[in-house]
Amino acid sequence: MSDITIDKPDIMLSVRDVFGIDSNLKVPAFSQRDSHVPDIDNAYQFNPEVTLAILAGFFRDRRVMVQGLHGTGKSTHIEQVAARLNWPCVRVNLDGHISRLDLVGKDTIVLRDGKQITQFQEGIVPWALRRPTALIFDEIDAGRPDVMFVIQRILERDGKFTLLDQNEVIEPHPQFRLFATSNTVGLGNSNGLYHGTQMVNQAQMDRWNIVTTLNYLPTNDEVKIVMARVPTLNDEQQVRSMIAVADMTRSSFAAGDISTLMSPRTVISWAENNEIFQDIAVAFRLSFLNKCDEAERPIIAEFFQRCFDQELTESWAHQAAKVMADGQL
Ligand SMILES: Nc1ncnc2c1ncn2[C@@H]1O[C@H](COP(=O)(O)OP(=O)(O)O)[C@@H](O)[C@H]1O
Ligand SMILES: [Mg+2]
Repeated sequence: MSDITIDKPDIMLSVRDVFGIDSNLKVPAFSQRDSHVPDIDNAYQFNPEVTLAILAGFFRDRRVMVQGLHGTGKSTHIEQVAARLNWPCVRVNLDGHISRLDLVGKDTIVLRDGKQITQFQEGIVPWALRRPTALIFDEIDAGRPDVMFVIQRILERDGKFTLLDQNEVIEPHPQFRLFATSNTVGLGNSNGLYHGTQMVNQAQMDRWNIVTTLNYLPTNDEVKIVMARVPTLNDEQQVRSMIAVADMTRSSFAAGDISTLMSPRTVISWAENNEIFQDIAVAFRLSFLNKCDEAERPIIAEFFQRCFDQELTESWAHQAAKVMADGQL
């Protein structure tokens, strides 16, 4: 049933060598990869504190929640640690579409010997619990109440999980691990930034042993990532200006002035689009500006103007100049 050939860690890795973190810690890992181990992203920059928290999740079986604004690298951070440890990993995005049945399982009708019979098909949770797998509940603050109820049951003290309809209690595999990411601090959409998020109830919050925060990267690291992702980029100053625009959108978003921000993911796709279109302004419009609320575009065009000393047609200054020019005609 499983393609995993070894079911417990069989080697020790040096945290310093593997993650580039100043620590003498050694952590257990698997010597072989199976198809559920995420691919290694060599350009990934590990945040030391978050990495240590996630590692504690793996080698001390702590339940770790990583929180922070979107695009700060929460989901990929957990996956990239798993990738280095060869630890199989499945990520379930709890956005509005996942239901309790997807997680737990449901009766399905199958044909056997020409007869229709009902058969229980396990969902992702029982599947993962039986294996040496890290299960990531991604964007847990977007989970629906029925889904949160299932998660609550896994978080109960001994981690045993009852398949109520099946009369079966599943003991988690000793190498089963549980992680979560959240865009808010479990407090729902209190500042209006994340629509559709719920309060993670206090009883559940208490059951996460470690809560760590991932913020945007220091500029120098973000420059390194963007340049590593788009190898034809060789103008570091240009990349710095791009990140300066992104930083302005982040501060403005945090202050509640605009409703969309440029994540590192957006900066990377801006750089990629610039490679295609060979025009930084066109690429900016295609990768970010067109995704923004029309009413906010002039503010964002201003940010671009400040960092690149080049007007976009959306900017106030550009519009004003045009009106004045029209008036003079
Ligand atoms: N520390 C990092 N090193 C390399 N790439 C990163 C880093 N942080 C974010 N990224 C890039 O940004 C993208 C968004 O990361 P993701 O994990 O999806 O963010 P989140 O889950 O916080 O919304 C990823 O595809 C990754 O390429
Ligand atoms: Mg994510």
